[in-house]
Amino acid sequence: MSDPNRRPAVVEVHEGGLTVRWSDKSPMHLPNYWLRDNCRCPKCRHPGNGQKLYEIVDLPADLAAIEAMVAPDASVKVLWSDGHRSEYAADWLNAHDLIPSARDARRPQVELWGKTIESALPVGEWPQMLQDPAKELAWLDRYTALGFGLLRNVPTLSGMVAEVGDHLGFVRVTNYGRLFDVISVPNPNNLANTSLGLGVHSDNPYRHPSPGVQLLHCLEAGAPGGDTLLVDGFHAAEILRKENPGAFALLSTVPMTFRFADDKAELEARQTLITADMDGVVTAVHFNNRSADWLDAPIDLAGRWYAAYRVFAQILKRPELELVFKLGPGDLVVMQNDRALHGRTAFDPNLGRRHLQGCYIDRDGIESRRRVLKRRTTNRTDAAA
Ligand code: OGA
Ligand code: ZN
Ligand code: ZN
Repeated sequence: MSDPNRRPAVVEVHEGGLTVRWSDKSPMHLPNYWLRDNCRCPKCRHPGNGQKLYEIVDLPADLAAIEAMVAPDASVKVLWSDGHRSEYAADWLNAHDLIPSARDARRPQVELWGKTIESALPVGEWPQMLQDPAKELAWLDRYTALGFGLLRNVPTLSGMVAEVGDHLGFVRVTNYGRLFDVISVPNPNNLANTSLGLGVHSDNPYRHPSPGVQLLHCLEAGAPGGDTLLVDGFHAAEILRKENPGAFALLSTVPMTFRFADDKAELEARQTLITADMDGVVTAVHFNNRSADWLDAPIDLAGRWYAAYRVFAQILKRPELELVFKLGPGDLVVMQNDRALHGRTAFDPNLGRRHLQGCYIDRDGIESRRRVLKRRTTNRTDAAA
């Protein structure tokens, strides 16, 4: 990573944009429209809320920089072909470098995990987190790196799961309601409401969009069995990529249909099991045997896709990837639903009661909560300094 304190030394104007040469001699190329669209002056952005005041087509065709200089405070000043003047602070330029190493460093730092995480579970005490934002932030940081976190001592009251959901983000209401009970019942509309074991899965991949985050709160755990299983889908996808790049390519490009139907709803969505971005970074894994419907793909791909699907499903069953633990009353697990795949072992409902309640929140809500807490902590540190 580049030195966060480096300063622009000189700036050159080219036909397509500018090149800033840093004090450490490295160059930073800045395409014209990219740079102009990042102008933060009060004509370009509302001074109160920072929102953009022009449309991209309002910028002239063939926009070009006419002149550029490094000011004494190390900001870069630009005069554009339409007469507009922009100024870019050194810190801003440093934080927005587009070279691969800088872009890598800006990605969320993901820690892949497997069974050995059993000895270092990301646990937070709910009552203490409510009292102390620093503790909540520390828990959210672990949750973000691992894609799941555990809360202990969440009061065993019906509906608490949605209160925790609304604290961390905003509960997403679905056809299952604001929250749902996971309890063994006769004639269930979903296998979750039997005492059968459930292979690891993402919940509800038949929704558009799929739930971002799932919460499961244990109210009663009297029945033998019913252990929770968790597998890091990102880790499994990386193993697939390494061991079988062809299978990874198929599962990240060919979508399958997921489906759920009961007497009131008929939900369908088509998505790939693995989502990777333009840099090849895995951003989501959706896997759900129960609601996998069918594959509508060209014939040659359909055969090859199934081979890849089986390979991935086998990886997800590797014991060294599988975290196993038992939720007790008052425990609540929060899972990034497109990463931390969850399941359970079978239980015996004749020997005791098992009752969980679950709900969904969106990813943006919990991510915003973390950023806001971080901002507050940083401001406090600044004020103290
Ligand atoms: C679910 C589910 C797990 C469990 O309801 O989505 O996966 O432990 N339940 O019962
Ligand atoms: Zn401007
Ligand atoms: Zn589930």
